[in-house]
Amino acid sequence: MAYESISHMATQQQFGFTTPTKPHPLDAFSLDGVYRTNWGGAVHADSLEVLRSLPDDSIDLVVTSPPYALHFKKEYGNANQEEYIEWLLPFAREIRRVLLDTGSFVLNVGGAWVPGKPTRSIYTYKLLVALVEDVGLELAQEFFWYNPAKMPVPAEWVTVRRIRVKDSVEFVWWFSKTPFPKATNRAVLRPYSKDMIRLNKKGLQATKRPAGHVINESFANTENGGSIPPNVLDEDTPTDLLKFGNNAANDPYTRRCKEAGVKIHPARFPAILPEFFIKMLTDPEDVVIDPFAGSNTTGMVAEGLDRRWIGIDMEASYLEASRFRFDDFDGRGPSEVEVTVSKNKTKRRRESSRAKG
Ligand SMILES: C[S@@+](CC[C@H](N)C(=O)[O-])C[C@H]1O[C@@H](n2cnc3c(N)ncnc32)[C@H](O)[C@@H]1O
Repeated sequence: MAYESISHMATQQQFGFTTPTKPHPLDAFSLDGVYRTNWGGAVHADSLEVLRSLPDDSIDLVVTSPPYALHFKKEYGNANQEEYIEWLLPFAREIRRVLLDTGSFVLNVGGAWVPGKPTRSIYTYKLLVALVEDVGLELAQEFFWYNPAKMPVPAEWVTVRRIRVKDSVEFVWWFSKTPFPKATNRAVLRPYSKDMIRLNKKGLQATKRPAGHVINESFANTENGGSIPPNVLDEDTPTDLLKFGNNAANDPYTRRCKEAGVKIHPARFPAILPEFFIKMLTDPEDVVIDPFAGSNTTGMVAEGLDRRWIGIDMEASYLEASRFRFDDFDGRGPSEVEVTVSKNKTKRRRESSRAKG
């Protein structure tokens, strides 16, 4: 079966108007949300406190991108490189505690330069070691997010003296509580390449690669629904962005923030990042948490995939703007989203009734 038809079938099944059969996550965990949708809710709080309030072994997936230890501090504040690991470990310990044995923790962190020198900080590597050796997480697999749109910085080394190149990847580490978390790569297959399809048609003879790997006839079998993806997430990674909105300059979130004169979150990750891991590591109705939710990219994707979700951020204005992600969501419209507090309630209600004619 061709990839396109699988994707289409999934779209038909997954994105209808649905509600969970299990308790809403805000109710299940007795949390106060600033807003709630059918599948989840946004909580304005320090996520360390929220994580501490959750029971052991209760969460299927944590996918998140905390503030990075950047040399130039972002407006929401970054612990500097030395303090960073110390700052993050208490969150990671709570995350490990609340994860189910089948659960996973996906952490996106960017690299950094040593201030004043054309050398890279090794804080990310120290952090990785600490998460495995001190916190006790298993490193299920490392991924890389290839983002060619990253700026060529530090300018001094990259564009002025030209002695370094553009840093275009960020780490995405997939941790788990046990060596066998729930996972299936069948949920994230890619379309077969033209070469694969050609080889399949032509037929492949068993052969040995120079490195000694034996390639047999089944290698070019294109009957398995798609090819197994690599551990690099990039713009070629298949996605349901049209359903979720994306991070392009004119996506619904940024457009509506601009229209409303509301600040756009300065460090969003692309929808493909939570999408890939939510699909691969969870089932519908599972609970997904983003403890550094920002503009709530994770919640939006979870909503579209019928996963229960909780997004936590300590900056109220980011959560307030993140409501826009659920306006007109997949044709459900804001009327289907139960909004408990909103500055834009009146405007949004008006839009909703207009949409209904
Ligand atoms: C890199 S941003 C996350 C962006 C998000 N992935 C998105 O796509 O919009 C990190 C977020 O963590 C939040 N944050 C920092 N410390 C926090 C804490 N202790 N509890 C909750 N949120 C926190 C910041 O306000 C910021 O919005």
